[in-house]
Amino acid sequence: MSWLDRDAQRVLNNWRAAGLERTPAVFCTGQGPVSGIDGEEYVLFSSSNYLGLAEHPAVRGAAAHALALLGVGSGGSRLTTGTTEAHRQVERDFARFLGYEDAVFFSAGFLANTGVLQALAGPDVLILSDERNHASIIDGCRLAKAQGATVRVFRHRDPAHVGELLAQYNGNALVVTDGLFSMDGTLAPVPELLEVCRAHGAALMVDDAHGTGTLGATGRGINEHFALLDDHPDILVATASKALGVEGGAVAASAPVAGMLRQKARTFVYSTSSAPATCAAVSAAIGILEGAESPVPALHRNIRRLATHLGMGEWPSPIIPVPIGDEGEAVRASAALRAAGYFVPAIRWPTVPRGAAMLRVTVMASHTDEQIDGLAHAISRL
Ligand SMILES: Cc1ncc(COP(=O)(O)O)c(C=O)c1O
Repeated sequence: MSWLDRDAQRVLNNWRAAGLERTPAVFCTGQGPVSGIDGEEYVLFSSSNYLGLAEHPAVRGAAAHALALLGVGSGGSRLTTGTTEAHRQVERDFARFLGYEDAVFFSAGFLANTGVLQALAGPDVLILSDERNHASIIDGCRLAKAQGATVRVFRHRDPAHVGELLAQYNGNALVVTDGLFSMDGTLAPVPELLEVCRAHGAALMVDDAHGTGTLGATGRGINEHFALLDDHPDILVATASKALGVEGGAVAASAPVAGMLRQKARTFVYSTSSAPATCAAVSAAIGILEGAESPVPALHRNIRRLATHLGMGEWPSPIIPVPIGDEGEAVRASAALRAAGYFVPAIRWPTVPRGAAMLRVTVMASHTDEQIDGLAHAISRL
């Protein structure tokens, strides 16, 4: 056994002994309200396919058409041979849909966040990051630090703390936050953050991965939710991998920022671009949101129904946390729901702090009333 194998085995054993090992559920169907998982059928309440677009015939059709026309792989990075008309179109579609001058499409939301933070970083830049930001922002901040930027963490959803930190600094500052926090479903105070950034001449970047397609009457995300479509954060990261049902991440920004990212973001320049079929599918998904048959109202209705059952009141997002606390209890609660036919994962440390384990329920536009009522009843019996 080499030192590598010995070391890996030791890490695995420790992870297992601490009860942290996770094994993925294996799906044999698409991400529908009833899915085949590990050989059984379950009512699925944990997918990010919030609008059911991963299964939508027009989205599948657009992908199939691009596949037949342009082949499977893109054959290169965006600046070499990996740009097709489908790549240019999806960027125009995101820019129009989100109301920004331009948008840059990366092959994952994770790569978009790390790419932006690395590209913007330099010795004269201060980055302020919410303490509960997504791992991709944390890793982006680490890359930024390696390039000489100063990174400070601000208290969760606390614009006053951001103001205090900005007041101590004279140079270029960027404040970065998740828009919709992906574990507990709460929203960042974007209007207040924008105000404090403007007061100090700082720029604001919002990662709207889970808000794209779910927040706002037409699914334009956190900016629409807070009526900020005209006076918006400087940079908005939208994903195609959650409500749009496909994959990829778009950075919506001004023309100069987008142009700079296309030259300097290493995850854009040095990685093979998305498959053309992916881009065509995302464009079709955006088209559905802009059309008369948008599933967004159905999603909002379903969120209201489940949130009311669970006593959450006016809940803003399709991510509904059921707090448990103890890690073992959360795993047992998830298993009890699974035995009753519902697939809802337990979320534990290191994804959330120790002792803050929970069930993370996500709602889809395609759930029926019966499925929602059934889950609420099963949770109330736990
Ligand atoms: C808040 C947030 N940002 C970014 C990402 C990364 O997006 P992607 O899955 O497209 O890489 C995720 C995905 O889980 C997320 O929850």
